Amino acid sequence: MKILVTGVTGQLGFDTVRALRRRGVEIIGATRAEMPLDDPVRTKSFVLETRPDAVIHCAAYTAVDRAEDEKELCRTVNVESTRAIADACEGIDARLVYISTDYVFPGTGANFYETGDETAPCNTYGASKLAGENAVRDAMKSGRFFIIRTSWVFGVHGRNFIRTILGLAKTRDALTVVDDQIGSPTYTADLAELLADMADSEKYGVYHATNEGVCSWAELAAEAIRLRGLPTKVTPVSSEMYPTKAVRPKNSRLSKSSLDRGGFRRLPDWKDAVNRYLAELEAAGD
Ligand SMILES: NC(=O)c1ccc[n+]([C@@H]2O[C@H](COP(=O)([O-])OP(=O)(O)OC[C@H]3O[C@@H](n4cnc5c(N)ncnc54)[C@H](OP(=O)(O)O)[C@@H]3O)[C@@H](O)[C@H]2O)c1
Repeated sequence: MKILVTGVTGQLGFDTVRALRRRGVEIIGATRAEMPLDDPVRTKSFVLETRPDAVIHCAAYTAVDRAEDEKELCRTVNVESTRAIADACEGIDARLVYISTDYVFPGTGANFYETGDETAPCNTYGASKLAGENAVRDAMKSGRFFIIRTSWVFGVHGRNFIRTILGLAKTRDALTVVDDQIGSPTYTADLAELLADMADSEKYGVYHATNEGVCSWAELAAEAIRLRGLPTKVTPVSSEMYPTKAVRPKNSRLSKSSLDRGGFRRLPDWKDAVNRYLAELEAAGD
């Protein structure tokens, strides 16, 4: 089996390559130079030329706030190039694993979103990822695709909330962090194993995949600081204290019953994941 992974310089793509390598899979790791997603024509050609059996599409325009000012670029990368990849996959009978986000939902209320719940993104990035999902559905009439919605991603290769918090905690006695956005952190090392399982299966469909359990950003920050043994205090504050260019959903709870139905193992608890992540950072000298 030959698998093309996009976004190998990002958090999830990096760990997906590692997971596949451990399984002895033939990997084509695509960088921006080989697959420039702001050029859907070149993107499609790369897939057609390399003829993988499956594509795990981890790359995306992920700058949530900047997307409000770069709507067109965000759309080209997240929608048009996703469509180009899906078209190519359909043409060569390859499976596609497309990574999506909790941001496709409106983020209101306190229920866990099921995969079939109504979508209504509250920012440009979320709208582009949802349009990417729809492009996959439109292009792949064979149905040979997976749509995986994840949230609050952290991995060893790249920037993320935990890294930022630990960086700040080194020099500050106290930090204020929002506590009215609730969701589930996701360790890319755990998610990557699931993606590798899926790429090797035919249990196509829409799935939600995060580490188990929910927390606020403030709780996540406090846990990372506690595990690092730092004395920094975390003061919970409301989102209104931290206005951002893009609106953030307050409810990012994703039901993982889709994983049960598909026969896939749920990811470990988020605290366990953060613990292993900090050990990995430490081993990397970070
Ligand atoms: N981060 C989160 O909290 C989160 C939450 C929910 C869902 N997701 C989804 O999960 C997936 C992985 O996210 P991540 O956190 O691993 O992303 P990331 O660390 O920000 O990495 C993004 C990757 O996409 C590549 N990329 C961006 N623009 C590109 C372009 N124009 N052409 C080619 N490559 C381009 C980047 O390449 P360069 O290194 O060259 O820039 C990088 O490899 C994405 O689909 C994202 O939408 C993420």
